[in-house]
Amino acid sequence: MNWLFLDESCQFPAWTPCTEASGSKVIGGNICLLSKELCEAEERAIDTVATKTTLANWNGQEMLLSEVKVSVLDRAFLFGEAIYEVIRIYQGRLWRCDDHLNRLATGIQALKIKGVDVASISARVLETSKNSQVKEGLAYIQVTRGVASRCHRYPEQATPNVLVYVEEYLDPCAELRQTGAKAITHSDIRWARNDIKATSLVANCMAAQAAAEAGCLESILIDSSGLVTEGSHTSIFGARDGCLLVSPSAANVLPGITKQQVLELAADSGICVVENRLKKSELFELDELFLTGTPEEIVGIVQVDDCYIGNGLPGMLTKKLQQAFRARLASWLLSSS
Ligand SMILES: Cc1ncc(COP(=O)(O)O)c(C=O)c1O
Repeated sequence: MNWLFLDESCQFPAWTPCTEASGSKVIGGNICLLSKELCEAEERAIDTVATKTTLANWNGQEMLLSEVKVSVLDRAFLFGEAIYEVIRIYQGRLWRCDDHLNRLATGIQALKIKGVDVASISARVLETSKNSQVKEGLAYIQVTRGVASRCHRYPEQATPNVLVYVEEYLDPCAELRQTGAKAITHSDIRWARNDIKATSLVANCMAAQAAAEAGCLESILIDSSGLVTEGSHTSIFGARDGCLLVSPSAANVLPGITKQQVLELAADSGICVVENRLKKSELFELDELFLTGTPEEIVGIVQVDDCYIGNGLPGMLTKKLQQAFRARLASWLLSSS
């Protein structure tokens, strides 16, 4: 196995493969060791930004992402007060764009951010995506309340800042969709409005980091009642006795666009769905478990906290839904609209 030595701040260094390294991960002192796959995926992600060719639209003006400047008094910087979206681009087209824009509008309304025209954001996303010439990518939208003198309550007057940018996506999950991925459980220490796709994501980042340090793709979040909410950046589905089990949207979870897509595919395929919260203890008795997310699509989870799920391979329903997802995507790509 190849291992990568990272510097003391866990920044991305030059490759230093070390075949003598033991299989166990060491984090401590000034050295971190991460598995080759995780590092390669993240290195590629950083590379994309490092090329400084990422195209952005900042408040209506097209420019390179590296040229965008934002005030430290922007309330997103001070308070994490902003809404964001991530849209997958397949073959140069924006997948489920309207759903993402609707969720963006709902979030903007929930935070009472005034003066945002979602229709013009939609036009900017389309234009930036087209001009970037990115075929396989991700379009990000960030809408902040804007700059104001520091004060917790909403300022009387602030002009929202709207950033759109498009970057290539090299799909680090492609192999994991075949093999399945590992996850850990992690306390859900987030706030009570996770239905809002806000940028204040430090608790999600802590959970995602814990998963990465454990060599896993995702953290499955468990609330104070011992119930599964969702992943740090994905929705979570279980399967038992041929039925899908998923947290209801009313719960404190994000209404995932891919989750909605899977629910539609399940309905079309006659797969029964029970919208009910799973107990942490029930996770280990499931036949199948999988996560969904815009960049990840559908990825089977075959191991949680060192326990195999089912037979330790992606299950039948997971594979069926992956195929149905790809078929739906293919027919959409063939369609003219
Ligand atoms: C907490 C959380 N849950 C679920 C998801 C999946 O949502 P979607 O399928 O819309 O990407 C995300 C995506 O960012 C997320 O952050």
